[in-house]
Amino acid sequence: MWLNYIFLVFFLKTTQSGRILCIYQMPAVSHQATFKPISRELSLRGHEVIVVTPHPINDPRFVNLTEIDTSGPTYEIIHRHGFEFFMSKELPVQSKIPKIFRMYNEFAHAILGNEEFRKIYTDESQKFDLIISQIYVSPIMYALSAKLKAPIIGVSSMGGWTGTHFAIGNHNPPSIYSEMFLPYNGGDLTFYERIKSTLYYLWTRYYVNFVAMPKWDSIAKQYLGENLPYLADIERNVSALFLNINAILYTPRPMVPTVVSLSFMHIQPPKPLPEDIKQEIESSKNGVIYFSLGSNVKSVNIPEKVRELLMTVFKELPYKVLWKFEKPELAGKPKNVVIRKWLPQQDVLAHPKVKVFISQCGLQSTEEAIAREMPMVGIPFIADQEMNSIRLARWGVLRHINYLNTTKEELIGAIKDVAENPKYKQNMKKLKNLMQDEPMTGLEKAIWWAEYVIRHKGTKHLRSPTVDIEWYKYLLLDVCAFLLASLICVSFILVKLFKFMVRKFKRAQDKIKKSDYVPFSNEKK
Ligand SMILES: *[C@@H]1O[C@H](CO)[C@@H](O)[C@H](O)[C@H]1NC(C)=O
Ligand SMILES: *[C@@H]1O[C@H](CO)[C@@H](O)[C@H](O)[C@H]1NC(C)=O
Ligand SMILES: *[C@@H]1O[C@H](CO)[C@@H](O)[C@H](O)[C@H]1NC(C)=O
Repeated sequence: MWLNYIFLVFFLKTTQSGRILCIYQMPAVSHQATFKPISRELSLRGHEVIVVTPHPINDPRFVNLTEIDTSGPTYEIIHRHGFEFFMSKELPVQSKIPKIFRMYNEFAHAILGNEEFRKIYTDESQKFDLIISQIYVSPIMYALSAKLKAPIIGVSSMGGWTGTHFAIGNHNPPSIYSEMFLPYNGGDLTFYERIKSTLYYLWTRYYVNFVAMPKWDSIAKQYLGENLPYLADIERNVSALFLNINAILYTPRPMVPTVVSLSFMHIQPPKPLPEDIKQEIESSKNGVIYFSLGSNVKSVNIPEKVRELLMTVFKELPYKVLWKFEKPELAGKPKNVVIRKWLPQQDVLAHPKVKVFISQCGLQSTEEAIAREMPMVGIPFIADQEMNSIRLARWGVLRHINYLNTTKEELIGAIKDVAENPKYKQNMKKLKNLMQDEPMTGLEKAIWWAEYVIRHKGTKHLRSPTVDIEWYKYLLLDVCAFLLASLICVSFILVKLFKFMVRKFKRAQDKIKKSDYVPFSNEKK
């Protein structure tokens, strides 16, 4: 009886609660907003969670959560690279991507070189039941799954990029799905866009296979040991992929069963506003426009010309403008503009006097606007923002602005339209209802899948054959070649046969002529 009980406790402990290692590379509030709830919730459910992150929660109440802080070196890297190159729409994607890859390589050095973390991953006695790693462009951290012999789940705070989809076996036809760095939304690409999308796709396949992957592999081996399998093979063993996308905001796409789409991960119930901000909002006569470009773009970084334009636009608006501006002073600030270095965005958007959210349309901001039913004016700058903005415009909840050629008149018109025309808010309400009508919340799905992977030690039983098939077989190039060859052979034979018959027939005719045989000539008179 006792033995049984002990066995049960032991059994429950080993199958129900596991040891989980989480690695989140990107030092950006918006990215971490998706990841933090996952590790926090897993620790609350009794798993022992070790997190390597630039944004530790630092709350001693989470007794099952150990955090290794990488903010120092990772923020240094991102500040050195800057976000400006990212923002320039003039730069072709082919030059931005190697830059992003370089940045992620530096993150990998900073994280794997962290002494505290090195002690964990070089210690043979450290056993993990699951690794969760942020996956954006580079799968270097996936190598930890081979080193520590634990299944791995990739998690992205947005969609996957081409290489990530490819590794898990998702269909990736460039005719429909461009990449987050190209602003095509799928379905109705023009001929020119399909050419661009295809060339880009071919280029990324080439670049990843022959340039980036060997480099990633060597970085992984430098820290984790030379005897690891090739990184591309490790990447194909990923157990699941958590993408922060929703089929309503993003073009639906065919995905293998181990891709889990999350949404609204970081949305909290509204809290009361700080007193000064509440005063500012409630003292406005005609309502408030809230303007923030999020944590990555930052208003201080946008081109001078655009900032000047926005100031002249704001000056002419009948509303108060609440602007998240990261410096204490803004030269020439109009009277109706209030600046703050930081604002509790989810709570500001919940205030009924706030009428419009002018946003860069990063995914987190977009989700907050939807959760609060707040219509928007979109001024996208980087990454997936343009795609988000265009899609939201199609849903009729946003007016899309192209910052490269916009005018004062267009901006004023757009802001007033969104503030005064109730259809934008009504559409937002509809969109929210659609997006939140799901059997489980994003966080519940993430936790369920993490524990599923722990229970079954990976998802080998769900591996899609699209992961392993050779590219020429997948594209049926061999079958097409065979059919084409057969067609040519058959045509050749038919032509030969036809010529032969014609010759035979002619010869026969000639013979008949020569023999002077005249048929039907017995009609003598
Ligand atoms: C920590 O984990 C244990 C089980 O391992 C669990 O019983 C406990 O509730 C957890 N505590 C907190 C605060 O998460
Ligand atoms: C991938 O997983 C399979 C099955 O678990 C294993 O046999 C193989 O060695 C793994 N490959 C790599 C490169 O880790
Ligand atoms: C800016 O350019 C886009 C296409 O590149 C066009 O659709 C839009 O109307 C232009 N906006 C203005 C204000 O000229």
